[in-house]
Amino acid sequence: MKGVRSTLRHLRAPLVDRRTFLRGLGAGVAGLVVGCGRQSDGGETTTSLPEAVSPQLVPGQPLPALPILRNESAGDVSHFVATLVASRDDVAVHAGRMTSLARYDHHSPGPLIELVEGQHVRIELDNRLAQATTVHWHGLPVPADQDGNPMDPVAAGTKHVYEFDVPAGTAGTYWYHPHPHDATASQVAEGLAAPLVVRAADDPLAHVPEVLMFITGIALDANAQIAADDAIDWTIGRQRDLLLVNGARLPVHAVAPGATQRWRIVNATAAIHLKLALEGHTFTLVGTDGGLLGEPIEDLTEFLLAPAQRVELIVKANAAPNGRYRLRALRYATDFMGVGTYVDQDVLTLATTNALPAAPVTLPPKLRPIADLGPATARVDISFDEADLCTSKGAKRTFLINGRMFDMNRVDVVSEVGRVELWNVVNNTTMSHPFHIHGTQFQLVSRTFGTETTATPYLAWVDTVLVPPGQTATLKVKQTLPGKRMFHCHILQHEDNCMMAIVDVRAPAA
Ligand code: C2O
Ligand code: CU
Ligand code: CU
Repeated sequence: MKGVRSTLRHLRAPLVDRRTFLRGLGAGVAGLVVGCGRQSDGGETTTSLPEAVSPQLVPGQPLPALPILRNESAGDVSHFVATLVASRDDVAVHAGRMTSLARYDHHSPGPLIELVEGQHVRIELDNRLAQATTVHWHGLPVPADQDGNPMDPVAAGTKHVYEFDVPAGTAGTYWYHPHPHDATASQVAEGLAAPLVVRAADDPLAHVPEVLMFITGIALDANAQIAADDAIDWTIGRQRDLLLVNGARLPVHAVAPGATQRWRIVNATAAIHLKLALEGHTFTLVGTDGGLLGEPIEDLTEFLLAPAQRVELIVKANAAPNGRYRLRALRYATDFMGVGTYVDQDVLTLATTNALPAAPVTLPPKLRPIADLGPATARVDISFDEADLCTSKGAKRTFLINGRMFDMNRVDVVSEVGRVELWNVVNNTTMSHPFHIHGTQFQLVSRTFGTETTATPYLAWVDTVLVPPGQTATLKVKQTLPGKRMFHCHILQHEDNCMMAIVDVRAPAA
């Protein structure tokens, strides 16, 4: 495959030059990939939105809040009961043309689900789509058969009840999205994704005003429809999407000068690595995927939020009135032969108003204790591999886990309820992959590059960890519920195209 590599390197196209790149692929690579069913049609997709768009997609609108899914449990707060509709709706995204989106409760992103630790949850999915779907509660430790796995599709036109408890200690920022076999990437791209927040009665930051920023991506084709994934998307992930926050393009978030806020940010894009930085400000890191850290970490100038990850940041706005500061996603190379090199992108603008300066807010020195999971008694070796495999998707390179393509009927790893395991995740490929395990929050122990091992600078609960090329991430994992769990790359095109596997968590032998 030397020929492909040099062709790709030679083209070294920034994202804006996709057409040139695709033409190059067509000319230089097509001959080498005969047998790969789908060829890209190059000129059909656009990298920017059509000029006339709906008000929501006009830059500079106020940051919208997402609707909240109503609890219908009639005043009984120990239960959360709701219905969630998944349907296909025509939406005016491009003026004069309707775009067909898939949405939860006729909203994209879908409604925020707000839960409380200890609650019993019963949510009925009403699947009005023309295809099967599932709802996956990303990051939450729900029973395996309630987790919306690809093995449990909800057929088109049918309803399905998901039921689970929200354990104590799970307060944090999560999200939910479809996980049907082979169609996760397309259903998310078409609009099915939404946030979920679990609250704790003893939240040490309850006094800090909160803002939710749910970041998704959109790319339209020439007919103003959601662009289908093309050969490059299937290869390096859908990185060409334009960023939206709570469904809005480059919105403005206005606050009083000096205001202190807790930002919960979700990276719900398929493949975009968001190296977040806020002009003129630093961040105080207080939480990750599974909730609060042991203590705040101050003065971060940037935070890399990989696909599927969440972060809680405290932002203290500049005390000067009428200021404007861009929240940006800075260039992050995924090192895929130069194709996946990002340009800096703006995400939103923080604007200070001319109101009186807000009163200062003091953060507690301790947040929520995190105990090390303890000594591991088993070890699991995971490798990411790269192959010139032809799949039906038309990817130019295929990424695998432990050298194998995903098989829904195969168990790849056997685990045990309650056992602490050391997972060594080795990335033998040429691009970075966000590695995600269902069913539990885990702890990153260290990262090894060559002979150098760096211990994690702080303990945190995460369900997704970014593993750059050539690196080994060492994790401590403990599953507390039995059943089959997915683990996969959360670049959704990789996940749908082979880079997924199954861990079967079994009851300990008596
Ligand atoms: Cu967001 Cu298999 O998960
Ligand atoms: Cu998940
Ligand atoms: Cu990947």
